[in-house]
Amino acid sequence: MELQLRGPNMKRITSPELAREFIDAQIRLIREQVGESKVLLALSGGVDSSVVAALLIKAIGDRLTCVHVNHGLLRKGESEMVLKVFREELGANLIYVDAVDRFLDALAGVEDPEQKRKIIGKIFIDVFAEEARKLEGVRFLGQGTIYPDILESHGVKAHHNVGGLPEDLNFELVEPVKFLYKDEVRVVGKELGLPDAMVFRQPFPGPGLGVRCPGAITRDRLELVRESDAILREEFAKNGLAGKVWQYFTIVPPFRSTGIKDGKRTFEYAVVLRAVNSVDATSATVEEIPYPVLFHIRDRILAEVQGVNRVLFDISPKPVATIEWE
Ligand code: XMP
Repeated sequence: MELQLRGPNMKRITSPELAREFIDAQIRLIREQVGESKVLLALSGGVDSSVVAALLIKAIGDRLTCVHVNHGLLRKGESEMVLKVFREELGANLIYVDAVDRFLDALAGVEDPEQKRKIIGKIFIDVFAEEARKLEGVRFLGQGTIYPDILESHGVKAHHNVGGLPEDLNFELVEPVKFLYKDEVRVVGKELGLPDAMVFRQPFPGPGLGVRCPGAITRDRLELVRESDAILREEFAKNGLAGKVWQYFTIVPPFRSTGIKDGKRTFEYAVVLRAVNSVDATSATVEEIPYPVLFHIRDRILAEVQGVNRVLFDISPKPVATIEWE
């Protein structure tokens, strides 16, 4: 496949005016490409797929079908936000697939990180393909490919680990943001009226909380990751850190340690906090979080997340550590 490059005269989209121009042009181009056909899109809630969904809704309305797969590894409130924004506010034709049990059952007992990623990727494809086969008259697949995906991985959405769709689902691609950098996608998303929580979202890995629940994923530990992550995100937002720190999240390792509560010994899990700055994820430095903020987050996690008796802060840069724990 020939590598398509951004034209030398293409303006960088830095303002609402330029975003509006881009949106109008893309609506025309999408209509030209798609005609009266139907388009299918996997909508994760990430900024790229959300912007593509919003553009397609403007261009072709309910000839777009979005599929949102809940694999049980999403952050707290994430699926709800996708449903609220796209179904209720934008009137999207949106299929919500609750595949939580399917993913978590397949992952039960699997410790190897790469094996976990493969299972998540494969089931995602299976679920999406099943939904695609139920629909009639779909000719196109919408995709949130962005320019770094083209430059870094030859047009495959970086890190998605999902492989391709089965051969019988031979869709043509609609990729309206494929020549945009991430910051431009955000400007376009803002102009399309998407909420800030979606547009300025920190990077979130495809396998989701699965890589933050190291070793074999259990439902109880996954819940601890989800609840502690929600507290961390809330406190970062309140303390002006959300827009400043590149990526921040919690991890719950697969072992317990002793503690003491109400005079009794406990044997519970530890929550690890991680907050890093990076430009392109190939290296990362640790953000210095003020102690009062750290202590408040610690207090909230210990009080509100049942089954946790210890909170740690990971001070390891990349390299030698990676950003995620697996
Ligand atoms: P690491 O842990 O390798 O992470 O330092 C670098 C960046 O990539 C994200 N990441 C992933 N994203 N699928 C993804 O879509 C994955 O399997 C995956 N693993 C890591 C990570 O969140 C960080 O931003």
